[in-house]
Amino acid sequence: MQHNLKKFINYHARNAAETHGTALDANCGDRAETIALRSLDWDRDRFDIEFGLQNGTTYNSYLISGDKTALVDTSHAKFRQLYLETLAGVVAPETIDYLIISHTEPDHSGLVKELLALAPQATVVGSKVAIQFLEDFVHQPFQRRVVKSGDRLDLGQGHVLQFVNAPNLHWPDTMLTYDEKTQILFTCDVFGMHYCSDDLYDEDLAAISPDYHFYYECLMGPNARSVLAALKRMEPLGEIGLVANGHGPILRYNVHELIARYRHWSQAQTQGEKTVVVFYISEYGYSDRLSQTIGKGIVKTGMAVEMVDLKAADPQEIHELVGRAQALVVGMPPMSGAHVKEISQNLATILAAANPKQAVGFYESYGEDDEPIDPLATKFNNLGLKSAFPPIRVKATPDEALYKLCEEAGTDLGQLLGRDRAIKQMKSVDNDLDKAMGRISGGLYLITAQKGDVKSAMLASWVSQASFEPPGITIAVAKDRAIESLMQVGDRFVLNILGADNYQPLMKHFLKRFKPGADRFAGVKTQTAQNGSPILTEALAYLECQVTSRLDCSDHWIVYSQVETGRVSDSEGLTAVHHRLVGNHY
Ligand code: FEO
Repeated sequence: MQHNLKKFINYHARNAAETHGTALDANCGDRAETIALRSLDWDRDRFDIEFGLQNGTTYNSYLISGDKTALVDTSHAKFRQLYLETLAGVVAPETIDYLIISHTEPDHSGLVKELLALAPQATVVGSKVAIQFLEDFVHQPFQRRVVKSGDRLDLGQGHVLQFVNAPNLHWPDTMLTYDEKTQILFTCDVFGMHYCSDDLYDEDLAAISPDYHFYYECLMGPNARSVLAALKRMEPLGEIGLVANGHGPILRYNVHELIARYRHWSQAQTQGEKTVVVFYISEYGYSDRLSQTIGKGIVKTGMAVEMVDLKAADPQEIHELVGRAQALVVGMPPMSGAHVKEISQNLATILAAANPKQAVGFYESYGEDDEPIDPLATKFNNLGLKSAFPPIRVKATPDEALYKLCEEAGTDLGQLLGRDRAIKQMKSVDNDLDKAMGRISGGLYLITAQKGDVKSAMLASWVSQASFEPPGITIAVAKDRAIESLMQVGDRFVLNILGADNYQPLMKHFLKRFKPGADRFAGVKTQTAQNGSPILTEALAYLECQVTSRLDCSDHWIVYSQVETGRVSDSEGLTAVHHRLVGNHY
């Protein structure tokens, strides 16, 4: 485990000036007015859904000094000593005037309690929701100032801070802060990426792009409408010279390009053919993470998702969203506590706005005080809504297998909504182009992968050798396939090559429609590969592979992988071949 903490002093005073030609305060001299404190976490454990690319992450915190001093966010608790020591090296904590909280997840607010012990005079500045969340985990009195979009805070020396509420990017508490003097926008999770490197800035756009996109898809994609609303609220700020994000390199060289990508992706996302509203309860049990994982599974199918916090949502907004949705997913709320009244009012609004053409699914939050699913499900069933997926009942602390189940439930729901389109597409066989495309043939393969307790399999025919040295292959994987999340860069899997004389039982088995979380290998003979994935004993040959890169190809990922080892069981055997008639489906 390697934890470093780096501090970068004066980066805006020199670099933003060079980039934008902005005249800095002539009296500034060598005094550092904006300091970045970046905790470099090279090997963060993969326990969050968005940590797919395995490039570690950073936790970025900032100090702004005018006549008054403001600290923007803190760090993860695992960096307690390093962070607090480094901070004390640049400012005496007892002189910090403001602690600006952009978002209250522990990777940014994990040291708030410690910081307030060192700086009890500091006023905590945040959105109304952030201050409420903080009260729940700080458990001590603190001075606070609730701010909303358009509010300003003057630190002196020209550092006037403007605030922009950005609810649901990706939590309801999120707030952006803009320094008018330096044109730096402090964004916490927004415009971030899980990418750890020594580089302070985004010099290498090609290197960071996959992580930037993946992070958007996991955290922001399910909140695309909220992203567009926040981008609109950012417009009056004027020029943004630097994006001081909470994770990854700070955006300096590609600010406009990377902000534009959020706009482009969010516009595409909100134009999904159908919409699913996913209701969750922030800061209750595992509701946030479970709901996001379900949302991620839905988004994979091309449907739009709206994430709505039952604790903070406005009934009118709920009524409007439910009215135009094709499906609903409801997280079970607590039976007692401070927000029970608002939540039950919001549930009543959902029931009043729901209609029998919709599908509905439920999941437990595992918050120790969950309402039971069945009475609520009965109310929706009585209104005529069909079941989107079997209720997700959480019996133990959610693990990777449960998160995979949630993602698959979301994908099943998205596929259910897209079924009519898929059937229509399969029936349209009189198109010459489709018939010509159908003459492309391939072999028949089964991809098998296991990571921890999670395993999956997929029948594939779009497989090709792609390099001699090192030996490499490409596989086209549809974006809504369950196995896709086990084929991120760095992941290992097995390509099982099926034999012409015995492929049918295996193909029939793996073409079955499995319930979310079902064991796809039950009744199938397997051995364990060196890389931990299952090898199908009946396969003609197998290759152990590691994913090197992925190319986004519209509705598929092209996954390029290096082959590490392989064996053939019958050197005379021939590979099963897949002939098709049309190219518009498999
Ligand atoms: Fe980086 Fe949502 O915390």
